[in-house]
Order: sequence, then structure tokens, then C-alpha cells
Amino acid sequence: MAKIKTYFECQQCGYQTPRWMGRCPECGSWGTVVEEHPTGGGRGVGVRNPSAPPVPITEVQGPALTRIPTGFPEVDQTLGGGVVPGSVVLIGGDPGIGKSTLLLQVAARLANQGRKALYVSGEESAEQIRVRAERISAMSPLLYLAAETLLEAIIEHGERIRPDLLIVDSVQTTYVGGLESPPGSLSQVREVATRLMSFSKERGISTCLIGHVTKDGSFAGPKALEHIVDTVIYFEGERQHTYRILRVTKNRFGSTHEIGIFEMTETGLREVGNPSQLFLAERPQGVTGSVVVVAMEGTRPLLVEIQALVAPTHASLPRRVVTGVDLHRVAILLAVLEKRLGMPLSTCDVFVNVVGGVRITEPAADLGIVTAVTSSFRNIPLDPGMVCFGEVGLTGEIRAVRHAVKRLHEAWQLGFNRCFLPEANEGKHREGAEIDVIGVGTVDAMMAILFS
Ligand code: TYD
Ligand code: MG
Repeated sequence: MAKIKTYFECQQCGYQTPRWMGRCPECGSWGTVVEEHPTGGGRGVGVRNPSAPPVPITEVQGPALTRIPTGFPEVDQTLGGGVVPGSVVLIGGDPGIGKSTLLLQVAARLANQGRKALYVSGEESAEQIRVRAERISAMSPLLYLAAETLLEAIIEHGERIRPDLLIVDSVQTTYVGGLESPPGSLSQVREVATRLMSFSKERGISTCLIGHVTKDGSFAGPKALEHIVDTVIYFEGERQHTYRILRVTKNRFGSTHEIGIFEMTETGLREVGNPSQLFLAERPQGVTGSVVVVAMEGTRPLLVEIQALVAPTHASLPRRVVTGVDLHRVAILLAVLEKRLGMPLSTCDVFVNVVGGVRITEPAADLGIVTAVTSSFRNIPLDPGMVCFGEVGLTGEIRAVRHAVKRLHEAWQLGFNRCFLPEANEGKHREGAEIDVIGVGTVDAMMAILFS
């Protein structure tokens, strides 16, 4: 038999090389390139149909997509209406964020609707899981538990139980018997995911694969599996805060950008019905540097408070400390304020924070950031009844954003009475809005209304 040559692969990004390297030339990480042992043909075990002849696209039958509701509306909404039989969902997140808790609850809810769920854990014993399940009321005779790390055995359990939902916790502790690489290595996690994909597809079983996000790269993380699985979800949140956000980043059966919001309680995860209310609960009134923006998360408007603190700097290089929004975005907005409004921000430290640990990736938050910064810089508090949204361009112009009506409605529902928005969004929505709408064309004009 020909000897199969080993090769080296970066655990961070998957870069392959015939020789060992201290630093990955692809992603630049140190010490992540390790030796891999291919099994020869073991890779890429997809579903192989006996070759079917090509057909015109108009004659291809569309799939009859059925979905199983999990009993958790927030999870279903994130997935696009429930889990799709035969699909593999990868759930990534930091260790301790609540992935096991969430999926145990999902499994129990599904089982309580008369469907079978199999929860396989390589991290805890069945007894430990039972103790947790009792505490969070996730008990059901149709919820099966197994403590197992060998993939072949997991598939055997799956064949015997034939669950509607199979949960594998986690991809890093599961290993394929024939592979030489240790559990958690890139070739192992890939092989585990690939084999679970073909098992799920063949049997029509929905599979949830839990993957820890690993910062040091000593294990291969969910990033390395995103291209294999059908759906990728991240479970995010700050450990210090109680709420968690389920965010979908890839979905072969639905849209991305949807989110689900939960709160971690003593008795497991609880769905948050009105997230805006939660995020604004502790909002201070009459202070400078605080403004509420209406952001969109997927199809859902979300009101969050942005805080800014601008203080004279004592360092030669002014500090820019930002959480919850993009640092580069803030740097651009500060430059716009400096150049267009003449605010000498290069002599100031600037801190920007989205309250509650939410992360906003939308440019519609721009207007909130410049308003909060200006309020803190001028030391003038804002009217607590106002909200704003809008993208800011480099010339200081305020650009239109999508979903203006939804945003206005959410702001009005939460009791806000005045909304600053892009001029281009104003006209169409003035009528019918039960909130005072002020369209603004430039940052300059808006600050003049607010602070003069
Ligand atoms: P866990 O689901 O084990 O996280 P992961 O699987 O992502 O590593 O959740 C761990 C944390 O959640 C743990 O620190 C305790 C907390 N927790 C609660 O606050 N309430 C609960 O009901 C449960 C089960 C866990
Ligand atoms: Mg866990």
C-alpha cells in the first residue's frame, strides 16, 4: 500500500503546507500549524446519489420544506420557522455562554410535543445532565441522553433511537475512530461534521452540533466547519450580563441576520418578548452623552442606548475605546465631527459604549454615535423622549436607511415622542406616524437643532 504522506494545516484558517511553519502565512497566527494525518479517501463523504443526468432548471422539483417547530419561538424565528429535517445546524459560542442549556431546553420542548430527541454529550455525564435538566424543567420521557465521544457509537445510537433531533455536544470532544489526529484537531472536527451531515441527510434527522469558539486556536473552532454544515448560528452575550443573542450567519434554508434574544435565569434560558424594553430599563435621564438609537437586527427593530464620554486627554495619543460598535466606524465619525463641525476631538479621549453588551453592526447607528459624542463634548444633555437613526457619510451628510416605518413604530410603542431621521426617509413616513418626525440632511443641521 502506498504510504499516505502527512501534511501540515493551520488550525485557525485551514491553510495547508507540506512542511511545518511557526507562523501561518495565510492568517498570521503563531503556533497554529500542526501535522495532520489524512486517512485517504475519508474526507468529503457526502451523499452520493448514483449520477443523475442533468435536467433543465425549470424541470427541477422544488423541495417540499417541512419544518419542525422547536417550541421556542425565538429559536424558530432565528432558523426561519423551525428545524428542517435532515439539516445540520452548527451552534457556536464561547465556553459557558449557555449552548448546552439552550439545546437541552430545545430538546425537552421538542420531546414534550411528542417527538424524540437524543442528546449526546462528550462533556458531561448523563447524571450531570439530568440534574441540570431537573433544575430547568427540561424533563421528558422522549428525551434520550447518552454520554459518548466516539462518533461511530453516536451514529449507532442515532440508528437505534431514530430521533427527530440529534444534539452532539460538542464537536471538539467527538472523534472518529480511524483518524490519528486528536479530538478537536481540524481533521477530526471536519470529519465529524461531514459524517454527521451524511447521516442526517440519509435518515432525515435534524442534527445540532455544538462548537466552542476557541480563541487560542489550540482546537479547531466552528469557523472551520461553516462551509460544511447547512446552518450556522452563534450564541453571543457578555458573561457579566444575563441576556444572550442567537444570531444566524449562514442558512441554506432561510435568511441570515435573524436573531433571537434570551435571558439566562436561575432556571435556564427564558425568551425575551420585548428586548428594547430590557435594553433601556436602566437608562439614566438628563445626563450628557446618552442617546437612544433604533437599530434593525434582522427583521426586528431594536432600541438601544449609546453612551459616549469625551474628556480632555493627558496622553500624547488620544484614546479611543469602543464597545458594541466598530472602532473604525467611530474613528471615521470622529473625523467627520472634527472636520465638518470643528470639534477639536484630537485633544480628547473618546469612549463609546452600547449599553447592555449588544453589538450593532448597522450604519444606522452612526447618527446616534455622533449625537452622543457631541452631547458629551458640549456637556448638554438630550431630551430623553428623542430617538434617532441614520447613516452618516464622509461629507457629514445623513443618508437614508431601510425600514424607517418599522423603526418609527417601535420607537413610538416604547413611548418616545420625537425621532430624528435622514431627510430622504422623512417624506414618505410623515403621514400616519404618531411620533414627531424630524428629517435632517446633514450632521451640522441636526446638531444646530439639538444644541443651539
Ligand atoms: P452552559 O450551557 O453549560 O454553557 P456552554 O454549553 O455554552 O459551555 O451554561 C453555563 C453557564 O450558564 C454556567 O456558568 C451557569 C449558567 N446557568 C445559569 O445561569 N442558569 C441555568 O439554569 C443554567 C443551566 C446555567
Ligand atoms: Mg456545554
